[in-house]
Amino acid sequence: MSDQLIIFDTTLRDGEQSPGASMTKDEKLRIARQLERLRVDVIEAGFAASSNGDFDAVKTIADHIKDSTVCSLARANDRDIGRAAEALAGARRGRIHTFIATSPLHMEKKLRMTPDQVFEQARLAVRFARNLCGDIEFSPEDGYRSDPDFLCRVLEAVIAEGATTINIPDTVGYAIPELYGNFIKTLRERIPNSDQAIWSVHCHNDLGMAVANSLAGVKIGGARQVECTINGLGERAGNSSLEEVVMAVRTRRDYFGLEVGIDTTQIVPASRMVSQTTGFVVQPNKAVVGANAFAHASGIHQDGVLKARDTYEIMRAEDVGWSANKIVLGKLSGRNAFKQRLQELGVEMASEAEVNAAFARFKDLADRKSEIFDEDIIALVGDESVTSEQEHFRLVALSQRSETGERPHAKVTFFAGAKEVTAEADGNGPVDASLKAIEAHVQSGAEMLLYSVNAITSGSTESQGEVTFRLQHGGRVVNGVGSDPDIVVASAKAYLAALNKLQGNVERTSAQW
Ligand code: KIV
Ligand code: ZN
Repeated sequence: MSDQLIIFDTTLRDGEQSPGASMTKDEKLRIARQLERLRVDVIEAGFAASSNGDFDAVKTIADHIKDSTVCSLARANDRDIGRAAEALAGARRGRIHTFIATSPLHMEKKLRMTPDQVFEQARLAVRFARNLCGDIEFSPEDGYRSDPDFLCRVLEAVIAEGATTINIPDTVGYAIPELYGNFIKTLRERIPNSDQAIWSVHCHNDLGMAVANSLAGVKIGGARQVECTINGLGERAGNSSLEEVVMAVRTRRDYFGLEVGIDTTQIVPASRMVSQTTGFVVQPNKAVVGANAFAHASGIHQDGVLKARDTYEIMRAEDVGWSANKIVLGKLSGRNAFKQRLQELGVEMASEAEVNAAFARFKDLADRKSEIFDEDIIALVGDESVTSEQEHFRLVALSQRSETGERPHAKVTFFAGAKEVTAEADGNGPVDASLKAIEAHVQSGAEMLLYSVNAITSGSTESQGEVTFRLQHGGRVVNGVGSDPDIVVASAKAYLAALNKLQGNVERTSAQW
């Protein structure tokens, strides 16, 4: 058996299924590029047949990503599989991941199909997919709650049809590590052609055991692929967290005896990018990527670490990409230094015009903030409210007045399409007043689900504020992110960014909208 563990990242597919985590095509491509820098083996880019937007995102990622395999999910039917193959046509290495539910509950209540019908559909789907692509993954959805005899029958048949990876999902997060590991071991022992496929684990975190279950599937069951997401993003309690799986296998190589191809120094940048894009904040005590993961507060611990680092540290912060806030650029930095820093940070700009626009924003920021950190630069290039001239709503200027005992007032000037508008309103606070001013003109009718403010760099009130709004309208949920040293301005930018996303697909609810 191979001693290489394949890391299959599904942040852009299963992670995105988390309510409120939906991403635009550009955001997905940016994250896919970071996953490629992280050197994940497989990127599940989406579910091509589910919508035109998802199709475009999978296709764009397949066309741009060169070092990782790009995968699309597909239900076990010809249309879905055909769409996946079409979206993946430009990929250097593509994979179709097809699935059908096999548990009694799902077959009877959800699919309303007999086990024989499911068996036949799975077999024919893999046969069809294999004619379109050489790399086929098959998942029996709710596999862990399926009857083992039936599962053996299905899996033996799909391997015979050419499935190259067999993934066993614990779809509802019901498994216990030892039981899940043994479940996979038994399947592999009982299925005569099991050695012709790579076995994979896919665990959800409903009981907080997704990572433990995945690792048991590897250690006890002999799986050699783990499906996971950055920050454990995913539906309900999320998926297995990539950073925890990778660092467990790497830190305890003595126990697992496995290699992972991941560049671990890209873990924290990936975590930040996903958190910033989705608005899902990482809890401070989250393993590996939480702000406190390497902070020693107690005197005894600090004393120990100063004397010998390994007294209390089992991993090195720099190995997972934590760097102390570094002042990288300032007011006097030139365009070349800025461009070089963008390259070092792995930020690709489509044209010189984009570099110029980003440099102008950098200069503007440097005028207001004396120390510019890497995190500021990443926020600056990712700030959707100002990055694209094509955006419908763009902030031009904001002024606000607030005083103890007085009702705050805001005046906001912004572009709505080609037209520059100025609107004013009072509110409970300056942020509320600014949003009310924008809404006085836009009248979006959107419901606000989340408003969060974070400091981009810790330890100073000089930090830029990074604001996320989550808005819901017409059955869609979107996030808008904005950053600025002034959190009222950051809030207005984030709100306009969210409106742009809603505006992209939403029926107009008023003449202006
Ligand atoms: O959780 C699950 O069952 C899935 C499958 C589609 C692999 O995400
Ligand atoms: Zn899943």
